Amino acid sequence: MKSEILKILREADGYISGQQLCDQFQVSRTAVWKVVNQLKEEGYPIEAVRNKGYFLKELPDIFSKEELESRMHNAWAGCEVHFFPEIDSTNTKAKELGEAGASHGTLVVADRQVAGKGRRGRSWSSPAGENIYMTILLRPKMQPVKAPMLTLVMAYSVALAMQTYDIEVGIKWPNDLVVNGKKVCGILTEMSTEIDFINYVIIGTGINVGTSRFPEEISQTATSLLKETGKEIPRAELTAEVMKQFETLYGQFEQTGDLSFLQDGYNAILVNFDRQVRILEPGRERNGIARGIDRQGELLVEYPDGTVEPVFAGEVSVRGIYGYV
Ligand code: BTN
Repeated sequence: MKSEILKILREADGYISGQQLCDQFQVSRTAVWKVVNQLKEEGYPIEAVRNKGYFLKELPDIFSKEELESRMHNAWAGCEVHFFPEIDSTNTKAKELGEAGASHGTLVVADRQVAGKGRRGRSWSSPAGENIYMTILLRPKMQPVKAPMLTLVMAYSVALAMQTYDIEVGIKWPNDLVVNGKKVCGILTEMSTEIDFINYVIIGTGINVGTSRFPEEISQTATSLLKETGKEIPRAELTAEVMKQFETLYGQFEQTGDLSFLQDGYNAILVNFDRQVRILEPGRERNGIARGIDRQGELLVEYPDGTVEPVFAGEVSVRGIYGYV
C-alpha cells in the first residue's frame, strides 16, 4: 500500500483527498495517515491540508523499495523489488531467491555491495549512495543455449534507457556500456540449468550513475554518467526506465527466439563496429575487423584473409587495439 500511495501522490496533479485513498485501499483514515507519516519520515515532503488532502511538493531523489516499486509501470519486470541498503552481492541474493521459488521479474537492488562481482572473477566497485546495483531474476521458457542472448537484451535495454536522457552511449561487445570511451555499466549473467531446461537466469547490472572518483586501478577505464555528462540522474527513475525497456525487448525476444529485432539498433551504437579488434582465445591471439553482431548476438570478425567468423561471447575476450574500446 505504501508504494501505491506514493505512486498516486507522485502522479497526481494536485491534492489527493484522504477519503479517496481510504476508499481505494479499503482502510481507515488513520491507516492512510500512518503511511503518509512514514513517507514523510523517509524524506518525502508531503503537505497535509484539512479539507483538501495530501500533496507531494517535490520529488526527492530517494532510493528505496517503495520509490522503486512506485515508479514501475510494467506487467512483470521489476514489479516486486527486494531492496537492501547494504548486501554482499545482488547476484548472490537473486540466486537465493531463485532457489526459494521467487517469481519471474523479481528485482534485487542494493545501495551498496560489499562483495560486488564482476565478470571473470573480478570484483565490482560498489560504493553507497551513488550508483545502481541490480539483479533481475528470470524464468525463461527457452533452451539454455539461448540464455547468453539475454545479456545483450539487457545491455541494449540499458542503452535505450540512457538515450532517454540524451546520453550518447555506445556498446562494447558483448555487454559493456561506454560513454566517451570509458565504461559506465557492466553486466554479469549467471544461470541454473538442467541439461535442456533453464531453472532460472539472473542478470546483474551495475550502472555507474554518480561516482566522481574511482579506485586507482580502474580510473583509466571506468567512468560515471555524472562525470561524463554532468547530469544528476535519479537512480530509481533510471532503474524503472531500464525495467520498462527490458520488459518490451524481452517480449520481442520471446517471440523471435533470436536477436534479429535489435540487431540493427545494437550495431548502430556498437563502438567496435568496423574497428580493429584483438580476439584473445585460450592459447592464441588474432586481429581482425569487427563487422557487427549476427542474429545470435555473436560478433562477426573479418580476418586479414577475408574470412568472416562469428565469435561467441564467453569463449573469448575482445580487446580493442587502441586501449579499452
Ligand atoms: C562486469 O565485470 O562488467 C560485470 C559487472 C556486473 C556488476 C553487477 S552490480 C549488480 C550485480 N551484482 C554483482 O555482484 N554484480 C552485478
